[in-house]
Amino acid sequence: MRVCVTGAAGFIGSAFVRYLLADTDSEVLAFDALTYAGNLENLGEFRDEPRFDFVKGSISDQAAVTDALVGCEAVVNFAAESHVDRGIETPEPFLDTNIGGVLVLMEVSAARAIRMVQVSTDEVYGSIEAPARTDEEAPLSPSSTYASSKAVADLAILAAAGQGLDAVITRCGNNYGPRQFPEKLIPLFVTNALADQALPLYGDGLNVRDWIHVDDHCRAIGLALERGAPGRIYNISTRGDRSNIEICRALLGVMGKPETLISPVSDRPGHDRRYALDATRIRSELGWEPRMGFDQGLAATVAWYTDNRGWWEKIKSGEYREFYQRLYGERLAGGEVNRDE
Ligand code: NAD
Ligand code: TYD
Repeated sequence: MRVCVTGAAGFIGSAFVRYLLADTDSEVLAFDALTYAGNLENLGEFRDEPRFDFVKGSISDQAAVTDALVGCEAVVNFAAESHVDRGIETPEPFLDTNIGGVLVLMEVSAARAIRMVQVSTDEVYGSIEAPARTDEEAPLSPSSTYASSKAVADLAILAAAGQGLDAVITRCGNNYGPRQFPEKLIPLFVTNALADQALPLYGDGLNVRDWIHVDDHCRAIGLALERGAPGRIYNISTRGDRSNIEICRALLGVMGKPETLISPVSDRPGHDRRYALDATRIRSELGWEPRMGFDQGLAATVAWYTDNRGWWEKIKSGEYREFYQRLYGERLAGGEVNRDE
């Protein structure tokens, strides 16, 4: 099967390409606009692989998508603007890619009877209070530009599936692992700690995320691609709920760095308190089981960032530097801390 992987030069997309080439016979057409988050180094090891091709293009560009999907039997869509803090600052690209781009993929897929897998997120459900977990029937209640743009795309796909589009939606919690852009919690904090810099922890640090290693996520998406029922949603979770302060302590422990690096800063606006998914469906219907324990996965991730300094130092000294300064500069200087000392 020839599979188009959109957003293939990003964190999870590149891991999914690795999964397809290693664990299946599929041919891969990697398609990516190479935004700030796209990095061809993430796909460098496949340059000489005969089952691999790369095309630069945007999923919002109908002509580019129409060309790219020639000969493909399936498209798995990872292409997105994916960082909540950027969506607060600049919402437009989230609407263009996460909604507009998905509509293009749906239209071309429907016209050619191509199977589509939309990689969505637990953030579409919004925050849920402990100890409850969110299953696939829960209402959508997004609270960020990122989450609401993903929710709109999910609803559009469900409607099209009712009209015959062969589409499946997966919704996963927070991923971690190698090659994650260092604007997200774990890679930002690991790379800051490697450089003995402050870890800017939002609010009281008690927000909870449902963590999963990227390779477990990719195997779940692979099953949804192979055997997911059209029009069906599959939550993906290891029940890996941890608060942000627990994550900080765990990674500093692995790295042998002091907890004094943790620097509470003012909270993110609209910060969801807790995500926690119920993934009974994908386990019972598709037989998915996670393989990576959190402690083992975190240690391997810390080792990857330690061994691949060039990868993240290049990113952190480029465009990202200005964004970091805008987002954290004043907060880390102590101007906006809102926590009782
Ligand atoms: P990422 O930001 O690392 O990568 C996104 C990729 O999409 C980049 O390579 C970028 O160049 C590309 N891209 C952006 N706009 C594009 C466009 N218009 N056309 C083509 N390519 C474009 O993101 P990620 O963390 O790898 O997330 C991938 C997908 O998984 C996203 O759809 C995200 O919503 C979803 N997801 C992520 C997580 C997570 O924890 N990271 C969890 C659940 C779901
Ligand atoms: P993030 O990695 O941005 O993922 P998401 O917001 O999509 O869940 O953030 C994960 C959690 O970490 C979230 O509760 C916000 C928090 N966080 C910080 O405390 N400080 C930071 O610098 C960042 C980027 C995130």
